[in-house]
Amino acid sequence: MHRRLIVPSALAAAFLLAIPASAADFSPGAPGIGDPYYPASGNGGYDVSHYDLRLKYQPKTDLLEGTATLIATAKQDLSRFNLDFGLKVSEVRVNGKKATFKASGTQELEITPATPLPKGAPAAIVVKYAGKPSELKINDWTAWARTPDGAVAAQEPDSAVWWFPSNDHPLDKATYDVSVQVPNDVQAISNGVLQSTRPVGKDWTRYSWRSNKPQASYLTTLAVGKFDITTDKTADGLPVLNAYSKDLGDNAGSARASIERTTEVAEWLTELYGPYPFNALGGYVPNVTSGFALETQTRPFYSPRQFANGSNVSVVVHELAHQWYGDSVSVHGWKDIWVNEGFARYSQWLWSEKEGEASAQELADYVYASHPADDPFWTVKPGDPGAENQFDIAVYDRGALALQALRNEVGDDVFFELLKGWPAKYKYGNAKVGDFVRYAEEVSGKPLASLFDTWLYQPTRPGAPAAAKAEVLRAPGAGKLAQPKGWKKIAATNSIHEHGHDH
Ligand code: ARG
Ligand code: ZN
Repeated sequence: MHRRLIVPSALAAAFLLAIPASAADFSPGAPGIGDPYYPASGNGGYDVSHYDLRLKYQPKTDLLEGTATLIATAKQDLSRFNLDFGLKVSEVRVNGKKATFKASGTQELEITPATPLPKGAPAAIVVKYAGKPSELKINDWTAWARTPDGAVAAQEPDSAVWWFPSNDHPLDKATYDVSVQVPNDVQAISNGVLQSTRPVGKDWTRYSWRSNKPQASYLTTLAVGKFDITTDKTADGLPVLNAYSKDLGDNAGSARASIERTTEVAEWLTELYGPYPFNALGGYVPNVTSGFALETQTRPFYSPRQFANGSNVSVVVHELAHQWYGDSVSVHGWKDIWVNEGFARYSQWLWSEKEGEASAQELADYVYASHPADDPFWTVKPGDPGAENQFDIAVYDRGALALQALRNEVGDDVFFELLKGWPAKYKYGNAKVGDFVRYAEEVSGKPLASLFDTWLYQPTRPGAPAAAKAEVLRAPGAGKLAQPKGWKKIAATNSIHEHGHDH
């Protein structure tokens, strides 16, 4: 993400000054951004600052047609570069001129601009495409969910490949304008502010959304379907927009009773984590059959199954906490998933504590006690869980346990100072687990490396001394603790899901 504005004179200068001496000095950008968990994710050689997606979608046929315009900057002398994308492309232009391109494999689009791009040069990349996202399978897996009335793109660690070309990795965030033309009987929901709703001919309507703060590609979402929409404004004047599928049946009431508390939950989180980082709030519940939720930026995605046993504000707390921990401050690489999930889960514990249900300490005691030493739970290292365990329950529960251990070590004052300072320090950026460890040591003035090593990096249950120090062993009956009140809803946030995919 380059937040500097490229003014016309700078643009001209970049072209005039940076004429290549010899095309031989130019080399291709890497086909991956260098994430060992997902080597094909993202690309090297350039950085995108803005996406403009102008699309048309027909639910009956699943045909998605569109033009994506990416504003990027070359980070090296670039002879060609890749985008991550799976649909059929008909034309690519770079800075106005037609480029040659080929789809190599399932998710790489290799583009050779007519004129190589010198390091620092701006690039406007226009990609025209059409296809049926549901026909695209990568390793037998899809992030595109068709519903009876439309479709939804919301998945982690990637979903963009199914609907727009991108540098598909959280390291390259950008702003987004997403404009989608759909038949009149459905609506199109995306991130940020709904700028306009305009008729196109007599049968179609175009919905134009804008998300004006850096946003990771997997946090960019699209839902087409028949929705009941509620709108409001926060005390600070930010627009709130929630969308509920008209097809939620028995879950409609409990979904609304949860998601309509978004503003209230965000106010509480603002006290804990500092100013809300984005330009809009809300949530949406399409009529999908999957069970997970996702922190899609400004407008989390919720599966109806999250509300099948009554209201669940805890899942709203989780996804809104991610707006600070995950969306504004994002993982540097996918191995850093704890900087997202540990804190989002711990936020649910804090909400429980504030609501007078189980305290965070009681929840920590219960997590520790309910997993005996030989439980495979303890073999997952939240600080580096491996791609196959990226969303394992241990990343969430043991991840939150690590934060309770930290809280007991540094005391509440420093602990809450840490939680508020982190989203400010890395706002709109990326961070590694190690960055948090160093930051916590700096702020607290205590050596914490061994505490984090014990709770995040050892493939074993921390033994009695570490646990006693973290005060998770206070309960003498460890192993037979009663399930804390509210536990099931806290746990449901990530456990009601069909299994994630392995690349
Ligand atoms: N980040 C999401 C959450 O916090 C997890 C999504 C996991 N993906 C999946 N397909 N289950 O709830
Ligand atoms: Zn989460």
